[in-house]
Amino acid sequence: MSALPTTAVIGVIGAGAMGAGIAQVAAQAGHSVVLHDNQPGAASAGIDNIRRQLEKRVAKGKMRQEEVDGIVARLQPADAIDALADSRLIIEAIVENLEVKRQVFAQLEALCSPDTLLASNTSSLSITSIAANLERPERLAGLHFFNPAPVMKLVEVVSGLATTIETAETLYATATAWGKVAVHASSTPGFIVNRVARPFYAEGLRLLQEGASDAATLDALLRQAGGFRMGPFELMDLIGHDVNYAVTRSVFDAYYGDTRFEPSLVQQALVEAGRLGRKSGQGFFDYREGQREGQH
Ligand code: NAI
Repeated sequence: MSALPTTAVIGVIGAGAMGAGIAQVAAQAGHSVVLHDNQPGAASAGIDNIRRQLEKRVAKGKMRQEEVDGIVARLQPADAIDALADSRLIIEAIVENLEVKRQVFAQLEALCSPDTLLASNTSSLSITSIAANLERPERLAGLHFFNPAPVMKLVEVVSGLATTIETAETLYATATAWGKVAVHASSTPGFIVNRVARPFYAEGLRLLQEGASDAATLDALLRQAGGFRMGPFELMDLIGHDVNYAVTRSVFDAYYGDTRFEPSLVQQALVEAGRLGRKSGQGFFDYREGQREGQH
């Protein structure tokens, strides 16, 4: 199967960390992109943020201003979901909640043409379940980017029970055309990377709870001695604790409460306190202006 042509309009739902990043990737590849978020103004704010990030690259001499202007001109913000009606592919990157995702895809199915491809950036939820109530579940697959989407190369193309080979192959070819390294996966809980990464976070959290050391020291050890690019705590702060906690719960439930995947009370407390990591200014570490530097 060949990739979608650059004339194909791409829709993205959710203008948070992942949705904005995915919209940027598609616009950089030459597509017109409609970015929708149900929080009024969030899509525009997401595009402003993309511009700011790209202009930092201009300041470093890594990109030309005209390129930035071209990319930003291809990004259209939308507060209403109807603006996605003409998209050839719609990638969903909203809250990690099965019911909410199902409702959004049902809305999309009513809105779009029958051959619009649908993709979810879910980290862990079953693609089979997300698609189950659709009239045409065969055109939905997982398209799982990693954070930050414009930087990280890997994309998992996840097939549920109903996903056709044509759908998966078109998404695979499209992700490849966007400069990504695509891999096929089937819809197991957490797919490949998030399944394997669970113990990385879980053991770090257990060490912290047992008082083995503090988060900054554990991160530094894993970076320096373990060879990881980031330690588990700074990585969880980057992902967002609401997202990471939801993923942990989803994998734990999907494996019938297997204790290997048990969620951590420490992480639950961070979510309850609204300390969601970088995006809220505080998580394991403090990212607010004027706070301690060098912690992360
Ligand atoms: P986020 O919290 O940064 O952004 C989510 C955005 O979706 C928010 O702007 C919110 O207003 C919007 N939203 C929520 N419900 C909506 C609805 N019904 N309609 C339209 N917009 C809605 O979340 P993030 O981190 O971008 O995650 C999004 C998805 O991507 C989740 O499924 C998550 O599991 C997945 N993911 C997250 C990664 C990460 O490192 N944060 C990595 C890979 C996947």
